Amino acid sequence: MANILTRTATDVMDWVNARAPGMMPAYRKHMTEYYAPKNFNVWYYFGSLALLVLVNQIVTGIFLTMHFKPSAADAFSSIEYIMRDVEWGWLIRYMHTTGASLFFIVVYLHMFRGLLYGSYQKPRELVWLLGMVIYLVLMAEAFMGYVLPWGQMSFWGAKVIISLFGAIPVIGQGLTEWIMGDYLPSDATLNRFFALHVIALPLVLLLLVVLHLGALHEVGSNNPDGIDVKKGPKGNRWSPTAPADAIPFHPYYTVKDLVGVGFFLLLAAFIIFFAPTFGGMFLEHDNFTEANRLVTPEHIKPVWYFTPYYAMLRVIPSFFAIKLWGVLVMFGAIVMLFLVPWLDKSPVKSYRYRGKLSWAMLGMLAFCFLWLGKIGSGPGTDPSEVIIGRLLTFLYFAFFITMPLWTRFDKTRPMPERVTTHD
Ligand code: HEM
Repeated sequence: MANILTRTATDVMDWVNARAPGMMPAYRKHMTEYYAPKNFNVWYYFGSLALLVLVNQIVTGIFLTMHFKPSAADAFSSIEYIMRDVEWGWLIRYMHTTGASLFFIVVYLHMFRGLLYGSYQKPRELVWLLGMVIYLVLMAEAFMGYVLPWGQMSFWGAKVIISLFGAIPVIGQGLTEWIMGDYLPSDATLNRFFALHVIALPLVLLLLVVLHLGALHEVGSNNPDGIDVKKGPKGNRWSPTAPADAIPFHPYYTVKDLVGVGFFLLLAAFIIFFAPTFGGMFLEHDNFTEANRLVTPEHIKPVWYFTPYYAMLRVIPSFFAIKLWGVLVMFGAIVMLFLVPWLDKSPVKSYRYRGKLSWAMLGMLAFCFLWLGKIGSGPGTDPSEVIIGRLLTFLYFAFFITMPLWTRFDKTRPMPERVTTHD
């Protein structure tokens, strides 16, 4: 039986190969003959996990779309219908909402790994830049998805965020109305956000991910030591020309990644089955009430993954009656991340071989981001929090603006000739 199956599979592959001869070389280039450094650690799980969550979002999204009604009159009740009457509808929805938060957890850890091992440095600047564009599109995708259930927070969140464009001089007001298609978030807004959320942005995301991986495979993966394995000796048991310290991505890393997938699915299942709202962090309590333009929720705040930026927006005062500063600072915080490949002047990539100063700076960045996230998710009424928020925003920017200095002057440790492993 097994013999017949193997033969049939080989016949089918031969048949396809004869008609599409480019497919096998592409498979080899990106899988069996993509040689990745042999010292990947757990930080390297998050790229494949991001892919997994992307697929989860698309598949569960397709099923949600089958029952969701994209209109201001029906959206909220169609979600209730999915949760109560559609067979397994609650599971599909919770997989999608939990997936959104897990997507950001995974992407933030993936980005932090990039910072930690200097994966944005030459020759991987393009990989990083494409990653940053993915991050922006992902934020737009999540924001629009959050508006769709047409709960109180969907409506008021959309109002606050879209109104930010109103701070732009001259064109601001017109731009806000153009985005909403009305003077307030309305049926027109919901309809266009639906179109963008279910088809336009997912297509863009998929394309960007293909480009991201394409760019990475052109130059090869970095690793926790930040050493270029291509420069080392050549030849291993799979190929005489491949770097000696690299192994084929498939089957070695596909199998390793499956371990990460196993742990990740356990965590996801735990949240989906036992804590789908995650204490109001993944699904906010106010969003279980239908949108009402006459009743403002007590505290309007975005979902946790936007709160660091939201905190910056809130703590920056409007100088000379210009409201734009907060918006500029918020967008500036993201622009800084785009610039990292050119701000970092360190001669070594990985923090493993950088000095104490670099570690202190990176720790400070993570600390500021997390604390700002906490401030952004609070009511924003505590005056001392405003002062702390300003200080944290200042330190966040200081990390990037002074990066050319501290990366140049910080002591580095000697790097090994070849990658280090613990076996
Ligand atoms: C949908 C979101 C994303 C997906 C599916 C994705 C996928 C991947 C995969 C599969 C890898 C190779 C495996 C690995 O190194 O972990 C990778 C590498 C990388 N990604 Fe992403 N990524 C995403 C978002 C981002 C973002 C937002 C950034 C940063 C701005 C980023 C920066 C990088 C970098 C620098 C590498 C090379 C890492 C190295 O070689 O050390 N990615 N990505």
